[in-house]
Amino acid sequence: MSDTQQKKHANSIKHVASPLARQTLLDGSLTAPVAGVRPIRLLPWLQVVKIGGRSIMDRGHEAILPIVEEIRSVLPEHRLLILTGAGIRARHLYSVGLDLGLPVGSLAPLAATEAGQNGHILAALLSPDGVSYVEHGTIANQLAVHLSAARAVVGSAFPPYHHHEFPGSRIPQHRADTGAFLLADTLGAAGLTIVEDVDGIYTADPNGPEGGTAELLRETTAAELAKRDGTLPLDGALLEVMANARHLERVQVVNGLVPGRLTAALRGGHVGTIIRTGARPL
Ligand SMILES: Nc1ncnc2c1ncn2[C@@H]1O[C@H](COP(=O)(O)OP(=O)(O)OP(=O)(O)O)[C@@H](O)[C@H]1O
Ligand SMILES: [Mg+2]
Repeated sequence: MSDTQQKKHANSIKHVASPLARQTLLDGSLTAPVAGVRPIRLLPWLQVVKIGGRSIMDRGHEAILPIVEEIRSVLPEHRLLILTGAGIRARHLYSVGLDLGLPVGSLAPLAATEAGQNGHILAALLSPDGVSYVEHGTIANQLAVHLSAARAVVGSAFPPYHHHEFPGSRIPQHRADTGAFLLADTLGAAGLTIVEDVDGIYTADPNGPEGGTAELLRETTAAELAKRDGTLPLDGALLEVMANARHLERVQVVNGLVPGRLTAALRGGHVGTIIRTGARPL
């Protein structure tokens, strides 16, 4: 290389060519040509299953053992990321922590440990089938290799916002359903099934005072649910995240106390409430 060529080369490598180099990342119209495309699906064969902490795990062997049996029986058909919610221990923790005035950023990581404990319990029961509990870092970086070695892994459904949890409310807004959805969508999973102790989403809490008149919604959208007053068996933040989904076009909420529902949902059956997200088919 001549002297002039060497100088030219040394200069050009200092200037990184990037279509986003010259513009503010806050102007959507400028970033859209580069950032407006759909991301790739990292694990398109993956099925994500969120197991309710309160609705399934807290019920002990009567609810857990049949679901473990059902998961075991679907392993030859599906590769699963099973994520557990936090349940009653987290609620106790919130009440003690709030009484002491702890900030939400202290409560979130503590509640997350409860979701992790439920995951450890489930993984222990599935360990004869090669299933183990894996931490967030492993889910983020090594899920593919783990699911090449085993048909399923279990993790905590809580998202690791931990001390960075948004201070919008005193109870963490980003809980197990939100965490499960964020993972499923970012991985480009084939589906997300949320396992509860009710047949799906009702017009009112079926176990509450208006339970007698509550009707099951067979199909709805995240936008419709966001407009409704009253309670849901899901995190409120989930609805916001669903509005901006990139891959998952729907999730299904099913009753894990009824044998066969999870299996049917994983096979694409409509056996609970289907909630459509904001993601659109290409
Ligand atoms: N509109 C609704 N439709 C259906 N269930 C509802 C509704 N509103 C409240 N619920 C109640 O939500 C309960 C499930 O509670 P929740 O979603 O907190 O449990 P979970 O998902 O197991 O908890 P975790 O988030 O800790 O995993 C149901 O048993 C039901 O009584
Ligand atoms: Mg729930």
